[in-house]
Amino acid sequence: MEQLPPRADFDNVVALTGAGISVAAGLGTFRGPDGLWTIAPDVERAMHAEYVPGNIDLMWQVWGGMHEQAQEAGPTPAHRALAVVQAQVITQNVDGLHHTAGSHDTIEIHGSAGRARCLLCPWNGPAVEAARASGDPRPRCPRCGELVRPSVVLFGESLDEAALAAAQHAAVSADLFLAVGTSGRVAPASWLAPMARAAGATVINIDPVPGDPGPAFHHQVTGDAQQVLAEWAG
Ligand code: OAD
Repeated sequence: MEQLPPRADFDNVVALTGAGISVAAGLGTFRGPDGLWTIAPDVERAMHAEYVPGNIDLMWQVWGGMHEQAQEAGPTPAHRALAVVQAQVITQNVDGLHHTAGSHDTIEIHGSAGRARCLLCPWNGPAVEAARASGDPRPRCPRCGELVRPSVVLFGESLDEAALAAAQHAAVSADLFLAVGTSGRVAPASWLAPMARAAGATVINIDPVPGDPGPAFHHQVTGDAQQVLAEWAG
């Protein structure tokens, strides 16, 4: 089986993470037979911009619930390992676990379920602040009183330009680029591995499901990210 090369061989490790890294914190993946969309198809309504604002309650249930579960469980050994090796993390996850693990400059390209943003004014802040500002169970804007929604990127919405630019800069600066627990099905995150490869990085996929990760990758380490990364970080 292919292994990860020694950490000491690289100056600049960049990790793109996805739902698979948070499975050990009790969160689901999105795709596949055990994925959220298979076991709870209505969850999809919380993920598309076209349903806003009618899906706000469902959005808080799905994204807020995910964030709560993650914060209760805490970061996994794989999140901690990436912090220990001081990898620059780019994550598609909105659960906040990289920050909790100590990767404070994590680039959250799909936003954060720990944050909320107002449907009316430019307020964007901690979700707990919006919950406190609410006179009813639905979180409201502390500035104008309008409803707020989780600050996550839905299908049909654009990524934050600064976050995407930072992710692309990180990818082309990497000498080792790891894709961890992501199916690579969602653009523009899926473009980062090819960019890293074109810029000269060693590009490796970590996933328990054997398969060909595609031409951007030098190889796949087939295994659980928890075990693979914890062993690698020592
Ligand atoms: P997916 O559900 O598409 O893929 C999860 C991947 O994690 C799969 O390839 C699994 O085989 C793998 N996996 C499962 N357990 C693992 C483990 N223990 N160790 C390593 N890998 C494991 O999730 P993402 O690729 O993250 O968008 O999905 C990308 C985006 O699609 C998400 O960010 C979400 C969704 O629409 C937003 O939230 C905006």
